[in-house]
Amino acid sequence: MSRKYLAETEEDLAHLRKMLRRVMGDDADTVRRHLAKRDEARVLDVACGDCREAEVLTDFIAELKGPSESAVKLTGIDVRAREIADAQRRYGGKREFKDRPGSRECDFMTGDASKLDQHAEMGEDFDLVFMRHQNYWHSARTWEEIYDQALAKLGDDGRLIITSYFDKEHELALEAIQRLGGELIRTEFNPETRELQTEGKSVDRHVAIFRRKEE
Ligand SMILES: C[S@@+](CC[C@H](N)C(=O)[O-])C[C@H]1O[C@@H](n2cnc3c(N)ncnc32)[C@H](O)[C@@H]1O
Repeated sequence: MSRKYLAETEEDLAHLRKMLRRVMGDDADTVRRHLAKRDEARVLDVACGDCREAEVLTDFIAELKGPSESAVKLTGIDVRAREIADAQRRYGGKREFKDRPGSRECDFMTGDASKLDQHAEMGEDFDLVFMRHQNYWHSARTWEEIYDQALAKLGDDGRLIITSYFDKEHELALEAIQRLGGELIRTEFNPETRELQTEGKSVDRHVAIFRRKEE
């Protein structure tokens, strides 16, 4: 990996960190109250690829959970076995830190996220379900199935956060997720998004947060 690539990835992750806080906004108080009641906060990263955002996500949830009890477990799933092996090698397992209280545990699995209900071992009741660079344009039908399954994995007071590369793809995803039972809390444009070669495509260009609509 070139030095430029590593530097860009670091910057993208620093921007994502800021965007997560920003999109959570005032809703953070509700999420904090909810997390305070949990022994362990649980994050599901859907279609996570090599999950380079693993630390950003676990730190984000640990911060919300509070310093003394910040046990966080992240589960990542993607159909691409090579990326999952990479994620497991880099971030898999349980870690404790000298400078931070609590623990972080990450576990990755190869699988089809449009069939999350067939992964009983993954469990239910996630506090955060995350999808970075959701890919609605690639196959609307598959991604609607993925959104539907992702919403079903949310616990009460859980939140779904998505990011998108493109304006129109983000708009279509927002519509689809709301149709499938997500309530949009907020969507934010990332002012520090890094432009990519394809026109109109940039890293974590938009970030949106949802809760499940009350039935
Ligand atoms: C645009 S990439 C984003 C990857 C990663 N989240 C990131 O931001 O770098 C879309 C990802 O969706 C995954 N994907 C597509 N269909 C899937 C499915 N049915 N189940 C699980 N993962 C899927 C692909 O393998 C790919 O890693």
